[in-house]
Amino acid sequence: MVKACVCGAAGGIGQPLSLLLKLNPLVTELALYDVVNALGVAADLSHIASPAQVTGYLPPDNGAERALEGSDIVIIPAGVPRKPGMTRDDLFVCINAGICATLAQAIATACPKAFILVISNPVNSTVPVFAEVLKKAGVFDPKKLFGVTHLDIVRASTFVSAVVGKPAEASGYTVPVIGGHAGVTILPLLSQSKPAIPSDILADKEKRDALVYRIQFGGDEVVKAKDGAGSATLSMAQAGAEFAKFVLEAAFGGKSKVVQAYVYLGADSGGAAVQKEIGTELEYFSVPIELGSSGIEKILSLGKLDEYEQGLLGAAVKELGPSIEKGATFQPSPPKL
Ligand SMILES: NC(=O)c1ccc[n+]([C@@H]2O[C@H](COP(=O)([O-])OP(=O)(O)OC[C@H]3O[C@@H](n4cnc5c(N)ncnc54)[C@H](O)[C@@H]3O)[C@@H](O)[C@H]2O)c1
Repeated sequence: MVKACVCGAAGGIGQPLSLLLKLNPLVTELALYDVVNALGVAADLSHIASPAQVTGYLPPDNGAERALEGSDIVIIPAGVPRKPGMTRDDLFVCINAGICATLAQAIATACPKAFILVISNPVNSTVPVFAEVLKKAGVFDPKKLFGVTHLDIVRASTFVSAVVGKPAEASGYTVPVIGGHAGVTILPLLSQSKPAIPSDILADKEKRDALVYRIQFGGDEVVKAKDGAGSATLSMAQAGAEFAKFVLEAAFGGKSKVVQAYVYLGADSGGAAVQKEIGTELEYFSVPIELGSSGIEKILSLGKLDEYEQGLLGAAVKELGPSIEKGATFQPSPPKL
């Protein structure tokens, strides 16, 4: 029996993500929470013939806690998305940090042992917000807190296939992406792609610059094309559901898996080795992790970065420090009486 809860389930990401979770055979109970329309989305999904029993919750009568109660995994795309001209950081200032702090508190009360997958942006700061609230509540398990950066890996693999000139499905490129989840903090390790990217592409600076830029700023393509109607939702839902599937399969299906996610480096002794590799004491970084029955089984080495990637690392680290600090020191304003 596996209970999954989606917070922000009626949104652009939340709805297709909830649909994909409803179709995951490992999920037997699916609770949908949102400040609007969660009951409608739940009623709609409940007509699909798959094992998960779907229920919807709105804020009245401690709706968040009731939705979260006993959840094994919580996936959070709650908040507001970007509009053209906005950075992910602008979202933190406007509203998302407060939403994340409130949801973290509800998780601490209702399902402190759940795997927590944070999609709400800016991930570089919202994950530290979650960690701090959970620490204060005395229930922080760093092995179970993940900033979802999986869309960056999906994009990298797709865009590499396009440059190489082979269909993504057939070529099956897998490109590790480390660092963070915003602009230059997104660090694609093209040199570690499997299968290897043809060396003439990697050696061509102009081609490589363009490919790296597209991976780092691919989200902007969607924001621009949607022209004010939000950011990536369908690709994010697919990436989020896939990442949730990996976590669930490792936890409940005995299948371990190596993925990348933005995590607290203190979660495993491998985190200290990564800090040495990146030459800083940043507390959070998107790293390769081995998933197991209790979440992060191991934090793995970043592997060898080539000279080009070493250059990208400097810029990523510089931007990540202040973003982490902003999340870790965020003080939710007291509720208005
Ligand atoms: N991690 C990533 O790779 C990635 C990719 C794309 C978007 N995002 C982020 O995901 C978030 C959601 O994007 P979206 O396009 O689905 O936005 P959206 O506005 O369509 O949906 C957000 C939903 O959250 C709900 N919500 C607001 N406050 C809430 C609260 N306190 N509790 C529960 N639900 C609440 C809203 O009612 C809405 O239904 C944004 O922050 C966006 O930037 C992350």
